[in-house]
Amino acid sequence: MDSTTTGSPGAEQGLAAMRVDYETAGLDVADLAATWHEQFAAWFAEAVAAEVVEPNAMVLATAGTDGRPSSRTVLCKGFDARGIAFFTNYTSAKSHDIRSTRYASATFPWYAQHRQVTVRGTVEMVDPSETLAYWSSRPRGAQLGAWASAQSVVVRDRRVLDDALATITHRFEGQDEVPLPGHWGGWRIVPDSVEFWQGRSDRMHDRLRFERDDLDRTWTVKRLAP
Ligand SMILES: Cc1cc2nc3c(=O)[nH]c(=O)nc-3n(C[C@H](O)[C@H](O)[C@H](O)COP(=O)(O)O)c2cc1C
Repeated sequence: MDSTTTGSPGAEQGLAAMRVDYETAGLDVADLAATWHEQFAAWFAEAVAAEVVEPNAMVLATAGTDGRPSSRTVLCKGFDARGIAFFTNYTSAKSHDIRSTRYASATFPWYAQHRQVTVRGTVEMVDPSETLAYWSSRPRGAQLGAWASAQSVVVRDRRVLDDALATITHRFEGQDEVPLPGHWGGWRIVPDSVEFWQGRSDRMHDRLRFERDDLDRTWTVKRLAP
């Protein structure tokens, strides 16, 4: 028998049997903070305390005008009542999608705590003064890398990148500050929906979603079936 056409998908690799049972205290509406960002801050602090690997890593989803989605990990570098900010190349594929649609979604996958937070909303450009403040805090190597890499462009081989870095390193040699490139900066997801997901036993997880009304901009919390 051809094993690729029988049984459940992934059975051979043991995937079918891979699951973790979530025995957690759960999450109820009464447990939530008053606002999505206070709740996010509380869970983020708990993720840090639990030593989640790269707790500020989030999987960012965007779509092109053709509707085809793309996802990739970026690092959240700021959050407050305004939204969730990250930094990237403004000419990258993700930035192209964002400029085209103005929408994005991001998920923080805090698996070690049986949690995820998913944010959806419109995207605005981070103010250049805030971008500059963050840029100045980056290590010089990361600054040079941002200059050297035309993110998302196809390159012939690794050497093209190494040569680009060498050229940029030479260009800024002797300069204390590497200037902020015009093609680099921040985006902020301005959420209209933020879902807090807490794993529970028997796959009866808790999903509580803050949703903003389009008209009066007030927020309500809804529970969703898992
Ligand atoms: C843990 C992790 C963190 C990352 N953080 C960022 C980030 O903050 N900004 C960024 O532009 N790319 C980051 N990347 C790289 C992106 O995942 C992606 O490869 C890159 O941004 C190009 O995406 P695009 O071609 O879809 O625009 C990170 C990747 C990983 C695995």
